[in-house]
Amino acid sequence: MNDQTALITGASSGIGFELARCFARDDYRVVLVARHLTELQEAARLLHQEFGGVEIMLLPHDLSRPESAEHIYAETSRRGLQIDALVNDAGFGETGYFTDTDIRTELGMIQVNAASLVHLTKLYLRDMVDRNEGRILQVGSVASFAPSPCQAVYAATKAFVLSFAEAVQHELRQQKSAVTMTILCPPPTDTNFFQVAHAENTRAAARPADARLVAQEGYDALMNGAARSLPTLSAKVNFFSSLLLPDSVLATLMNTQLHPLEKELRH
Ligand SMILES: NC(=O)c1ccc[n+]([C@@H]2O[C@H](COP(=O)([O-])OP(=O)(O)OC[C@H]3O[C@@H](n4cnc5c(N)ncnc54)[C@H](OP(=O)(O)O)[C@@H]3O)[C@@H](O)[C@H]2O)c1
Repeated sequence: MNDQTALITGASSGIGFELARCFARDDYRVVLVARHLTELQEAARLLHQEFGGVEIMLLPHDLSRPESAEHIYAETSRRGLQIDALVNDAGFGETGYFTDTDIRTELGMIQVNAASLVHLTKLYLRDMVDRNEGRILQVGSVASFAPSPCQAVYAATKAFVLSFAEAVQHELRQQKSAVTMTILCPPPTDTNFFQVAHAENTRAAARPADARLVAQEGYDALMNGAARSLPTLSAKVNFFSSLLLPDSVLATLMNTQLHPLEKELRH
């Protein structure tokens, strides 16, 4: 039995659930975070079914609430759990012209995708650096690499995650810390994401990657201490395009992927 613990946000479905499977397979104790207890219980049932004696703790928390990161940290501390691996996967998007979308949804998105990710990283990374061991996986996106019309705020949160993670990676190297941070940049992937983001009628949703494959690549990169994981050729193309093309061209390319195909936008 591996006596290590992984805390995974967004673990009730999609990429986060598949990442939890990877940890459970390697005998980690897993702490699963998402909003809905019933979905977390179903995820735990599936993990128990597949991995028998895996130890699972469920922490239902809404990461759009600014206090949630403190509550999660307090709960794992109260239970005496050392977090050896932190996965900041929880996130969501929204599709439409910025002038039409709901600001409350977007402010919640900034809190979940960016602010709570920073807050959880702050709390757990300090402990990891003190111990000089631990690993963190930040889930970005191919949207981290390009301004994305029709998902303007979502892509901005993912660009934030990339910039933040790369800067802290540099600091960890400067501090000569053994702690590693990896950023996973998935391409469009077959999860609830497109439904939640109202992006089903877009080119991006047409040929999604397999969530299990995306998670496994991210997990392997995390375990190898790699800086970045770009699952599938499409993610690699997005990354290298961003090195070669100006933002205005990247925005045009993203618009062809993210502009709703059937539903008319207001303008
Ligand atoms: N699928 C893609 O095409 C794609 C591509 C690039 C990057 N990503 C990123 O991958 C990550 C995982 O998304 P996914 O594709 O696996 O989508 P998903 O199936 O919708 O999973 C999202 C997870 O985040 C949780 N979550 C959402 N809002 C939350 C909140 N306020 N507080 C706590 N947990 C919350 C959800 O559970 P509850 O709803 O119960 O809270 C769920 O467990 C996200 O960061 C997403 O941006 C996805």
